[in-house]
Amino acid sequence: MENNLFGKSIIGIENFSPEDIRLVLKTAAEMKKIIRGKVKKLTNLKGRAIINLFYEPSTRTRTSFELAGKYLGADVVSINTGTSSIVKGESLRDTLRTVEAMGVDAVVMRHKAEGAADYASKVVKPIIINAGDGAHAHPSQALLDLFTINRAKGRLAGLKVAIVGDILHSRVARSDVFAMTKMGMDVHLAGPKTLLPRFFEFDGVTVHENIEDAIKNADVVNVLRIQLERQQAGLFPSPREYARIFGINEKRLRLAKDDVLILHPGPQNKGLEISNDLTYCENSAIHDQVQNGVAVRMALLDLTLNGGE
Ligand code: NCD
Repeated sequence: MENNLFGKSIIGIENFSPEDIRLVLKTAAEMKKIIRGKVKKLTNLKGRAIINLFYEPSTRTRTSFELAGKYLGADVVSINTGTSSIVKGESLRDTLRTVEAMGVDAVVMRHKAEGAADYASKVVKPIIINAGDGAHAHPSQALLDLFTINRAKGRLAGLKVAIVGDILHSRVARSDVFAMTKMGMDVHLAGPKTLLPRFFEFDGVTVHENIEDAIKNADVVNVLRIQLERQQAGLFPSPREYARIFGINEKRLRLAKDDVLILHPGPQNKGLEISNDLTYCENSAIHDQVQNGVAVRMALLDLTLNGGE
């Protein structure tokens, strides 16, 4: 398979062709074997340096990018924005220039501003990997979601996926929609009217205000976190009301296929968008997503920095 990702920054999934996505999934399957093995160390990125620059909180994404780089043999440094010169007011551009001067090959970046990763890719030479920019994009999450679905179901095309909850503020939903429609999935979005984008013109996407219609016969239900930090008050009446009308619980899930796969990017607001009992149930792939996140990020780093050789 031809690797078109070599030397490129990963800003959003929009620019990926279905072939690019297939290559990432295939490479990630190889990487997953390494993660499950005893010696988690390759030399693919030996001598390469990667900086994790996260301006927003993260557990899964940051740790998995860090481990992914280390498993591939790179030197990885995570900058803690709370104890760096960023608190002294250094601009994003100056911080990027500083790490560039240290000779890094890639910067994995999360920022609250939409477009921050794209901007970074224009002001410095290292490869930029977007690990989330505001409500805009989270490409590695979309790829790990596809990888998880593909492994569980053996295919992507034709599957019905319901993405439910806070669509409006979700970079995961946005990247998922691009990735899933490219792979021929039947995508349904549902949430309170106030948390749905006002305009969502997309082939292969149906928007519902009623959650039951979205979940009915679904093969996959992707439950989104309510992004309390990104919304003003009053977008839904109360957490209890939300859980009652839109929360994903066992009863509501009976509308979906028996073997429905439950996804959640984490962190979960338990009892709000998802009931307590679902995280560890048989249909849940929430923890597989975490391991698959490392494999997919290894694939992305290898394909962009090393050419996947
Ligand atoms: C997501 C994010 O940060 O966009 N989390 C993650 O990367 N696993 C989703 C979220 O925060 O709700």
